[in-house]
Amino acid sequence: MKVGTGLAGFVKLAVVLSTYGAAPASAESWTTPIATGGKSWKDAFAKASSLVNNMTLAEKVNVMAGIPGSCVGNIGGVPRLNISGFCLEDGPAGVRPLHGVSQFPAGLTTAATWDRELIYNRSYFMGKEYYDQGVHIALAPVTGGPLGRAPLGGRNWEGWSPDPYATGVASYLSVLGIQDAGVMATAKHFIGYEQETFRNPYNLDEAYSVFPAGVQAPISSNIDDKTMHEVYLWPFAEAVRAGVAHVMCSYNNLNGTQACENSFTLSHLLKTELNFQGSVISDWGGQHNDVDTLMAGLDMAMPGSGFGGLFGQFWSDLVQLVENGTVPEDRVTDAALRILTPYIWLGQDETPLPEHVFNALPTLWDAPDVYRDVRQDYTAELIRKIGAESATLLKNTGGLPLQNPQRIAVLGNDATDNALGQNACGGAGTACPLENLNGTLTLGGGSGYAYAPYVVTPLDALKQRAIHTGAEISSITVIEGYDAAVQSLVPTSDVTVVFVSGWSTEFEDRPGITLDNNADALVAAAVNSSSNVVVVMHIPGVVDIEKWADNENVTAIVAAWYPGQETGNAIADVLYGAVNPSGKLPFTWAKSLDDYYPNTIVSDPVLEPQSDFTDGVFIDYRWFDAQNITPRYEFGFGLSYTTFEYSGLILSEPQTSSSTLFRSISLNSSAVSASLKLSSAGFISDSDSLQDTAEPFADFDGSNSLYDVVLEVTATVSNTGESSGSEVAQLYVSIPGDGQPVRVLRGFDKAKDIAPGASSIASFELRRKDLSVWNPVKQAWEIPKGQFIISVGASSRDLPLSETWSRS
Ligand code: NOJ
Repeated sequence: MKVGTGLAGFVKLAVVLSTYGAAPASAESWTTPIATGGKSWKDAFAKASSLVNNMTLAEKVNVMAGIPGSCVGNIGGVPRLNISGFCLEDGPAGVRPLHGVSQFPAGLTTAATWDRELIYNRSYFMGKEYYDQGVHIALAPVTGGPLGRAPLGGRNWEGWSPDPYATGVASYLSVLGIQDAGVMATAKHFIGYEQETFRNPYNLDEAYSVFPAGVQAPISSNIDDKTMHEVYLWPFAEAVRAGVAHVMCSYNNLNGTQACENSFTLSHLLKTELNFQGSVISDWGGQHNDVDTLMAGLDMAMPGSGFGGLFGQFWSDLVQLVENGTVPEDRVTDAALRILTPYIWLGQDETPLPEHVFNALPTLWDAPDVYRDVRQDYTAELIRKIGAESATLLKNTGGLPLQNPQRIAVLGNDATDNALGQNACGGAGTACPLENLNGTLTLGGGSGYAYAPYVVTPLDALKQRAIHTGAEISSITVIEGYDAAVQSLVPTSDVTVVFVSGWSTEFEDRPGITLDNNADALVAAAVNSSSNVVVVMHIPGVVDIEKWADNENVTAIVAAWYPGQETGNAIADVLYGAVNPSGKLPFTWAKSLDDYYPNTIVSDPVLEPQSDFTDGVFIDYRWFDAQNITPRYEFGFGLSYTTFEYSGLILSEPQTSSSTLFRSISLNSSAVSASLKLSSAGFISDSDSLQDTAEPFADFDGSNSLYDVVLEVTATVSNTGESSGSEVAQLYVSIPGDGQPVRVLRGFDKAKDIAPGASSIASFELRRKDLSVWNPVKQAWEIPKGQFIISVGASSRDLPLSETWSRS
């Protein structure tokens, strides 16, 4: 690994590394290990080996180097051996850029449900759509790149949570879901990809461009060894354990070396420590050369020579490079094996996927003009359910649930259709035309946007309810010139529901946390005319609500995130109380941007921009806890229409060492459950993890695992209110030792549908890794000696139960 190509980068990195100990970076490069197939892919690996042994050099290169074609990424295949070409399409919120597919809720939205079943089901049904469209490789899920270190990060909504444990669970389940549907998943973007600004050295249309094309180095994320392991690598370890087929390397530099030619991250961390057996795919434009990338551990060049060579023509000369001795054929053979093994493991070689039907070549962002509907009946219901279950009630002084209002005022352009078509934001091109009326936001923009087949807007759904209940409903959806209309409509209404939004997209980081379209003024107009104002926000993360959050006329605030095509039905379910809100924040909601760790988006216009992750492991709530900063709403916070009490915390040694961390995954619909690969009990036991990592840990005895359960925890959650509801119980661990966060999330369990007066048991399993820290000197995980505090409760700052556990 080359550390810090620029002097400034090197000096700053040295400061970072002195905090926690340097990465084992003394060696210049790390050799890519030869794949073995690992635990679950042995048979597929044997079959792939015999195929690859029969392949010519040119044929091996054919499965590695992208070519022009009708998908976002295309691989040629080997017709002589019946190896099909591969079609790669985008995600992670639906099959992009196709039509006839569903627009699912964003990852962040799904994370806010804290519901393993919904996380899995979203990916499974999305996976079916990839499959039915003839897509071999889904470019999903986002697996902690970005994790969400920067509150302004443009793509945070594509992923899950800045907490590595939460993102790890979501990544694990998403990989299972997509691959259970027969499609290869891609964990992206590896690694340390936390800002859009300066992500690329070239100069296409980036808003941030300051130098001519190709001149500026990509932003370098400079991350110390402890932080890398405990924060950024953690979710990728879970994706590998779930058997992810591919990993996409990211655009940024990592400690001075580009992520797709970084032998430390690709060959050491990913392929050695995590024992990853699949292939590494470059992000489109993330590959900058032929040889260093291959030798560092890149296995598939994307888009290779596709897109008219826009991103280069990488590996189109790979055959010659082997023949003239520049690169060894063994590396090429290993790459071909890594690509073909999961393809065979999923049976794509024996049962060809449905043909993908396109009659127009897509440009990078436009959809082909063929329409083929592959949506399942159940999918819209699932999307609606995720939308409702993710809605996070932040304030409620009596505004919700709506009590059969007779006259309803709806304000805000975010309540209604986009005047330019529902896909005008995030569709062809990347910009949401803010100067126009953007309508309700269902997703953010860029390659993570999925084309909505329709959008049921909030206004559509609320009108249906009003028709049903005999209420009068009126709306004002302009973004200026509404004062007189508001003053006449709002005072005569029983309730005013204001819909506001914030846009976020790939290619640029958010400019700030102010709501779009002057929304604060709209809320002000509403509260000046009504004492019962409910605010609903469609947002990608934190926004500034300080001007009105404490106003007594604001009687409820709901964060509804980016909910996908069923947005209106989902929010109507919540507003009317058909669904009792149970979403909780998967990040910390500060009062001010200044309360977050500073300078997490680096925009200095220099040739080698450096982002030093000096916050270390103190990401998100860990920073607020360590600095004693009071947020507006803490990590894990969310209200309900009922109330819950916690009691009876019990810690016990496990009966068996195998974990069922991801248990109780089942589908609601019996009609579709038959097609799932789940065991009959509907259990996915952690002992069934498809691949084992090779992460070193201190008390390894030859047969134990870093993922063995060492502690079981249960707590009783009682519904003390008047209505049935679900509660996300959370477990935090305070790990002893200097420099540890006050507490870290290490478990969550959604206790569902508890009747008033009834109780439910929330259970958690702590694995050895969950109690460990990374020791940079020993280069191993270890459980520190001393007293641990295990706390359980409703949020990161509402933890009524705690017990200690010691390791001597
Ligand atoms: C760029 C994005 O970073 C990545 O997520 C996407 O899969 C590729 N382009 C292909 O569109």
